[in-house]
Order: sequence, then structure tokens, then C-alpha cells
Amino acid sequence: MTLKIARRGMIDPFIVMDVMREANQLSENTKIVHLEVGQPSTPAPAKVIEAAKKLLDKDRLGYTDSLGLLQLRKRISKYYGEFYGVSVPLERMVITTGSSGAFLLAFASAFDPGDRVALTVPGYPAYRNILIALGIEPVIIETSVKERFQPTIKLLEDVGNIDGLIIASPSNPTGSMIDSERLRVLVEWCDENSVRMISDEIYHGINYVSPPTTVAKFSKSAIIINSFSKYFSMTGWRLGWMVTPQELIRPIECLAQNLFISPPTLSQYAAIASFNCINELERNVDNYRTNREILLEELPKLGFKKIAPVDGAFYIYVDVSNFTSDSTSFCQRMLQEANVAATPGVDFDPLNGKYFIRFSFAGAESDIREACKRLSAWSY
Ligand SMILES: Cc1ncc(COP(=O)(O)O)c(C=O)c1O
Repeated sequence: MTLKIARRGMIDPFIVMDVMREANQLSENTKIVHLEVGQPSTPAPAKVIEAAKKLLDKDRLGYTDSLGLLQLRKRISKYYGEFYGVSVPLERMVITTGSSGAFLLAFASAFDPGDRVALTVPGYPAYRNILIALGIEPVIIETSVKERFQPTIKLLEDVGNIDGLIIASPSNPTGSMIDSERLRVLVEWCDENSVRMISDEIYHGINYVSPPTTVAKFSKSAIIINSFSKYFSMTGWRLGWMVTPQELIRPIECLAQNLFISPPTLSQYAAIASFNCINELERNVDNYRTNREILLEELPKLGFKKIAPVDGAFYIYVDVSNFTSDSTSFCQRMLQEANVAATPGVDFDPLNGKYFIRFSFAGAESDIREACKRLSAWSY
């Protein structure tokens, strides 16, 4: 008997996880330098760990409200004032299971099956894969270094009617950012065209050229998504948040009640302390800044000359078309022969990704230096 398997699950794999599996297998016998994974190598801030330990001893850790723990929602709402100078009322704040949980709630509450949601490639692959799983049509906007890998009004007008637009600034995999004025123009265009904007702000706080602007400054109808996984160095704690438009709060609450009941309780209590650890978190960013400088200096010497603007995040997206038109086998050989793991661009861009690879510089400075040493002794 053959039972049916739903089409919903027939989505692309997240290739970086496959690369990581292969790198982990190899590391049984060889020291691999990991420049493939996009996660901080630092632990959660000390005060967060301390708070979690204390709580384990004294609390039974039941469910919280589906919209999240009130104290944490209040604290994040205050953070918008402190960090951006923008007022976001607590009522619009929703705590989620990572930003990944936020995408599911955002897409399910804002779009119906068959709706069309635009996103740029190269871009974070889960956007399009989650949309597909929900029966929503991803509308691919092809970008290049010319537009700094970000959407323009012209590109948006070229794709026909859309119901939503996902933006990410700084972006994964390119690190490029949308400046404040361009962001305002995009928000206005969305409002004029009844397009729901989803702004992924997960890399805010990790920026090297200019501070980020939150879409919350310009719009009350956009959904803003953020997370404790990157700047706050709490990847495995699975905690994120959303600033939602007023009219979506109740639908999101009902979806969250049914899909998740509540976000992880221990993580929510502990995360409140992360806002008192800004000095420690800024030291992490200083480490990324040093790593970025090393790579921007060394990679061109190794022949990686065409590099996307690294305004923020901890990625360097490199055009390797001078070496190959098959970034997957390029990365495989780099891993096997130089023992340096990187991610092929096909993960982020089904159209041109075969010409690109992504290095993550979220690790230790010594790893970045070692990777450069190994790559200078390697040829493709
Ligand atoms: C752009 C972007 N958004 C969202 C996520 C998901 O993060 P999390 O679910 O850990 O918050 C990632 C993870 O790498 C990412 O790069």
C-alpha cells in the first residue's frame, strides 16, 4: 500500500544544513574551519545564563500567554525607544519561537493560499519555502550588485500584482542594507499599492557602516520580525518577536494558540536579562567587525574580488564566476581539499547562485585567519 505524501512537504532542503552535516562528518578525522553556518560562536550573555539557572530551581515553567510573557513584551517595547527612538506599544508586540515561528504566523495571518508575495534573490531560502508550504506563491525579484541586492520600485513594478513583499536589511546572504530614505520609499509604495510588507530585521545591531532603521518608524501596517538568535547570541534558545499591525493581533494570537500554545518559557524569562548585556553583545559585534576587515583584506588577494557590500550581518557573498559556474562542486572541493566549509549560492538564489558562495564570519578571529591561510595554499 502506498500512502499519499502531501505536496506541502516537497520543498527544497536548506543546503547549508547539508554542508554542515558533511563538514561534521569530515571533522571526525580532520579539523574543519566552519565558515558555512550563520550563527554566533559566542554563548548567550552571562546574565541570561545566570537568570535561566536561577529560574530552573524555582519555577515550574508552565505555558505563558500565547502572545508571549508580558514582562518580555514590555521590555522589547521599551527597547524600540532605546535603540531606534521609535515608540511601539506593547499591545503590538508578539513573542515567537525564533523568527522562523514568526514567519509562519506572519504569512498565515496576512496571506491566503494563491496570494503572491515578492521576495528578492539572493535571499534567505526559508521565506520562499515556507510560502510554498502554505500554498502562497513566491514571486522572485532577481537582484544584482547594481541594486545592492535589494528591491527597487522599478523591479517591484515589473513583477505585476503582488499581495506582499518581504525585505531583509541587512540581508542574508549579502549583508547589504537598505538606507533609511530608500526604506521609506519602499514602505510608501507598499501602502499605495495595498501590499503588506514583511521586514526581517534579524541582523539589526550587527552593522558596520551606518545604523539600521526599523520599518516600525514608517509603517503601522507592516509586520516587523526580529530574533534573539543573532545580535543577542541566543540561537538555540529559539526566541524571536514580531511587531504586528493592530488588525492582525487577534488572528496571530489564535494561530499561535493553536500552532505553538506559547513560545519557550525558560528562554522568555531569561531573555529579559539580555537587554542589560549590551556591552557584552557589542564586544561580539567588535569581533565580527575584525573578522570582516580580515576577510575584506585577504579574500581579494586569493582571487575573490567581486564581493557584495557587507554593510551588516556576518556574511560575505562572493561572485566566484571567475573560478566556476558550479558553486556546489566548488564548495565541495574547498571542503574536501582545503578543509574550509562555505555555502554555495544556490541555497539563496536558484537563478544565479551557481556563480556565488557565502562565507560566514560569525566565528572566532583565529578561525578566520586559519581559513585564509588554508585558502591561500589551495587552488581550484
Ligand atoms: C535572514 C534570516 N532570517 C531568519 C532566520 C531564522 O532565525 P531564527 O529562527 O533562529 O530566529 C535566519 C537564520 O539564519 C536568517 O538568516
